Parts: sequence; structure tokens; C-alpha cells
Amino acid sequence: MKNSSSFNLSNKNVLITGAAGRIGSEVAKAALEANAFVIITDIKETKLEKVYKKLSNLYPDKVLSFCADLSSQKGIEYLINNALLKINKIDAAVHCAYPTSEGWGEGFENLKSENLYQDLSMQLGGAIMFSQSIMRCFTKQKSGHLIHISSIQGVQAPKFEHYVGTGMSSPIEYTAIKSGIIAITKWLAKYHHSQGIRVNCVSPGGILDSQPESFLNRYRNDCTNIGMLSPKDVASAIVFLLSPASIAINGHNLIVDDGWTL
Ligand SMILES: NC(=O)c1ccc[n+]([C@@H]2O[C@H](COP(=O)([O-])OP(=O)(O)OC[C@H]3O[C@@H](n4cnc5c(N)ncnc54)[C@H](O)[C@@H]3O)[C@@H](O)[C@H]2O)c1
Repeated sequence: MKNSSSFNLSNKNVLITGAAGRIGSEVAKAALEANAFVIITDIKETKLEKVYKKLSNLYPDKVLSFCADLSSQKGIEYLINNALLKINKIDAAVHCAYPTSEGWGEGFENLKSENLYQDLSMQLGGAIMFSQSIMRCFTKQKSGHLIHISSIQGVQAPKFEHYVGTGMSSPIEYTAIKSGIIAITKWLAKYHHSQGIRVNCVSPGGILDSQPESFLNRYRNDCTNIGMLSPKDVASAIVFLLSPASIAINGHNLIVDDGWTL
């Protein structure tokens, strides 16, 4: 297929976790459009198979797929070891997997410690353990680029006034996890200095997904041009980071939010 992207990822093998999800599947598509080879992975087998079929139809011989549970070190090691058996090198990894407990989003007053600890562990702990394994691979290769996904909610406090009357909110643990993701990005980038390794982070604004009109209007008023984003808006920023055009960017948190945080 023709390269329809502004950036060229030729000869790059890009591993994308959470690739059956909203952002991960779009990152995989955008990376393929930019000529990358992609390894897609997710815990949800049927959804992943659907994404695999769609992408490999469009880009034959450019997609590998592995179903894996990344909430355990064993699952992470299984994924990376098996990917390396097939492709020898992983040039970049975009960690979009987003595991949540059953009580996710319950609200501050009803938060249960078992759900809180599970979410902190799976989302922030999981991101740290994924980083450990992929860095082992990058260190051996003497090159690699890890991209974590945070959120505008990790950059500043939620705009609670947007949620009034909608039943929606943004959990306290989400803010803790997402600001933690930005912090570990900086830690990892600095820790791996002088090794040809980069670690960056993207903080997207909200993705349009059938939210109530009243919320969308309030949200839009706090943005500059677009309001809620499409997964494509986030994926194209990630492709920029994956490309040689971003070579001097390291330990950075790229906010992609149409000005919501201004
Ligand atoms: N959607 C938004 O509005 C938005 C906004 C800002 C930031 N983000 C962030 O972007 C990232 C991706 O979000 P999304 O909207 O694409 O989520 P999503 O739920 O659509 O996709 C996440 C994927 O992760 C997979 N997953 C869950 N647990 C897993 C596990 N244990 N092992 C492997 N895979 C697992 C899921 O099956 C799912 O396909 C998250 O970090 C999220 O916080 C999302």
C-alpha cells in the first residue's frame, strides 16, 4: 500500500499493546500507513483477531499478532520473547494496554481499596513492568523507543464542572496513575541515557465516544478548535514521535488535547 503518512517508518518494527482498543488499533493502522511493520497485541483474542484481519488485508506480510495478558510479568515476557523469535528486533513499543478492575470509575466516595490497589498495580505497576522487559530488549539492541500513554488527567486536575448532571467523572486513581506515567517516562529516559534509547509519553485529551451532548459542549468550550478528539488525532502524533523527525525528543510528555489544558 502507498505511504499516505507525512512520516516514514520504513524498516521499523513497532510493537503496539492494547491494539484491539480505540487508540491502539488506530496507532497500528497509522504506523502501517507510514510503512512500519507492526506487532499487535491485546488480551482480547476475538477483538484482536478482527483488527489483525482488517490490517493484514490492507497490509499483507506487515502485521504479526499475539494475544497476551500484560498484567503479569510472565505475559509480558511471553509476548516480547515470541515477537523476537519472529522479527529479531523491536525498534519501538507503544504501550496502549489499559487494564481496569471491576470497580473502575466507582467514584471517590465509593472507592474500595481492593479495586484501587488492583488498578494502581495493573495500570501503573503494569507500565513499569512492561518498561523493564522492553528495556532489557532495547539495552541488548543498543536502540529502541518506548512510548507510554498518559492523559490530560495526569497533567492537571479534572474539570469537574464538565461532568455535572452526566453521571460521568474522572477517578482520583486515574489522575494518580496518569501523572505517575509521565513521571516514569522521565525516569526511564534519564536512566537509559547514552544507550540509543528514548522514552516518551503522549497525553491525549478525551476521545469522542457517544458522550452526552451537555458534556461535549462544555468540553468543547474549554478547547481551541476541535474539542473531543478522534483516535486518529492521537495516532498521528504518535507516528511523529516514532519517526526520525523527533530524534532529539526524549523524556517528553506530548500533550495532544486541542488546548484543553491551557
Ligand atoms: N479514550 C480516551 O478518551 C483516552 C483519553 C486519554 C488517554 N487515554 C489513554 O489511552 C490508553 C488507551 O485507551 P483506549 O481508549 O484505547 O482504551 P481501550 O479500552 O479502548 O483499549 C485498551 C485495550 O487494552 C486491552 N487490555 C486491557 N487489559 C489488558 C491486559 N491485561 N493485557 C493486555 N491488553 C489489555 C483491552 O483489551 C483494550 O483492547 C489508556 O492508557 C488511556 O488511559 C484514553
